[in-house]
Amino acid sequence: MLTRRTLLGGGLALAGSALLAGPMGRPSAARAAEGLAPRPAATGPVRHALSLIAAERPARLLGPDGPVSTVWSYDEKLMPVIRIRQGDSLRVRLENRLSEHTTIHWHGVRVPNAMDGVQYVTQPPVRPGEDFLYEFTPPDTGTFFFHPHCDETGQVGRGMAGVLIVEGDETVPSDADIVLVNKDWRLAGDGSWLPFRTAEGAARAGTFGTRRTVNAAAAFAAEVPARGNIRLRILNLDATRSLQIGVEGAEAYVIATDGNPLEPFRLDSWRLGAAMRVDLLVRAPEAGAAFAVKDYFSAEPWVLGTFTAKPSDKAARDFVPSPLYAPSVPRAALGEAETLPFSFSAAAGSPAAYLDSLPPDDPMSQVFLDALCAGGDSFWAINKQVWPAGDHSKLPPPLATLVAGRSYVFELMNGTPHPHPIHLHGQTMEVISASRQELPRFFADTVLLQPKERIKVAFVAAPGRWMFHCHILEHLEHGMMGWVNIV
Ligand code: C2O
Ligand code: CU
Repeated sequence: MLTRRTLLGGGLALAGSALLAGPMGRPSAARAAEGLAPRPAATGPVRHALSLIAAERPARLLGPDGPVSTVWSYDEKLMPVIRIRQGDSLRVRLENRLSEHTTIHWHGVRVPNAMDGVQYVTQPPVRPGEDFLYEFTPPDTGTFFFHPHCDETGQVGRGMAGVLIVEGDETVPSDADIVLVNKDWRLAGDGSWLPFRTAEGAARAGTFGTRRTVNAAAAFAAEVPARGNIRLRILNLDATRSLQIGVEGAEAYVIATDGNPLEPFRLDSWRLGAAMRVDLLVRAPEAGAAFAVKDYFSAEPWVLGTFTAKPSDKAARDFVPSPLYAPSVPRAALGEAETLPFSFSAAAGSPAAYLDSLPPDDPMSQVFLDALCAGGDSFWAINKQVWPAGDHSKLPPPLATLVAGRSYVFELMNGTPHPHPIHLHGQTMEVISASRQELPRFFADTVLLQPKERIKVAFVAAPGRWMFHCHILEHLEHGMMGWVNIV
């Protein structure tokens, strides 16, 4: 039977980056989260003090009987999950036992600028042997993550990432709450690392991993209570890959995007570029039956997780998901907002610009790729400005200067044939229109621009120096990064 989902999956496999997404979710006429109830004030906030020790550690990423790889991680457990309640404060000591400097960026969390973890821009780099204290109270509930903002392909590529969950958004508690982290690894068969960057990848859609994992394992499986409401927090922490998430064998609703609650709508499929997250509520089937979460973007649908229902005392009842509490993100005043255009393109004179104009199998592509290895490092630009390769110590001028407290619309334009997940630090944006996708209104910290697409986002500017970049890590390292100054 040909469903729209199989059609989407097949089409994506064949057409690659030329494919345009069909409708990705049921659009809601309402503005994002309009109908949601306000969240009550937190009671009895807790102060959490913890240490994250950035160090080399052994891990078996090619399977329990496979070779040992040397990962870099924050904890004995790869990609640790920190769970706190809304209103709780965090005090995290980062200890750097790596051979190069590092930081922690709290992706999607509206932190004070000094806690944003960008070396030279918001803090000094944390050099080997040094430590740094991050202290803040996350203002919003949701599914977030953290990662370094130095040598992103190398550090994140070796495993430097973790999940931060801020609970307290559920009006009715779910019966299970499960985190699924998608990440690929660039591993050779003997467990050693392959280069994290390649000219071919960096000048096109990014370099893909050789080993797919969920929660650092080849396959994820769990038991869930039959007829229970199962919350899945799905994070795409890959450096490159986009996912098209669907659920088979159960009914599923989207309840939050990048951690931000919205009016639940039934999931058909939802696309997650690098760094994006989605929270689903799934009604588990009868005992003995199973449902699966799949990625339809890959050539063959790929199973992120299998969930088998075990007997429970939950009664059979209709599945009408209770909405989460309304997000606490300030709402932009669209009538007064100034609109600023940002174009994401190949850097002038960059081989990426020539590659973009050629079909991928054109023999001339190889000529340009050979030139890349010898040539400069800057393939990509934002508003024609290229982020200087290397480190952040020589800060280029900001892409824009905004006034704190005012509303802005950013018009993001993708002039390339590749998708770019665009992330703005420190602000949560409301997606208000997209030229090539039918989308509901939703909040996001990372917005996936399809090839040649134009998307408008709105937000209320929060003060600080905030990075603004593509989250395909090779793209940001090869020029597609800048910053905005909010004063
Ligand atoms: Cu998750 Cu500047 O990034
Ligand atoms: Cu990009």
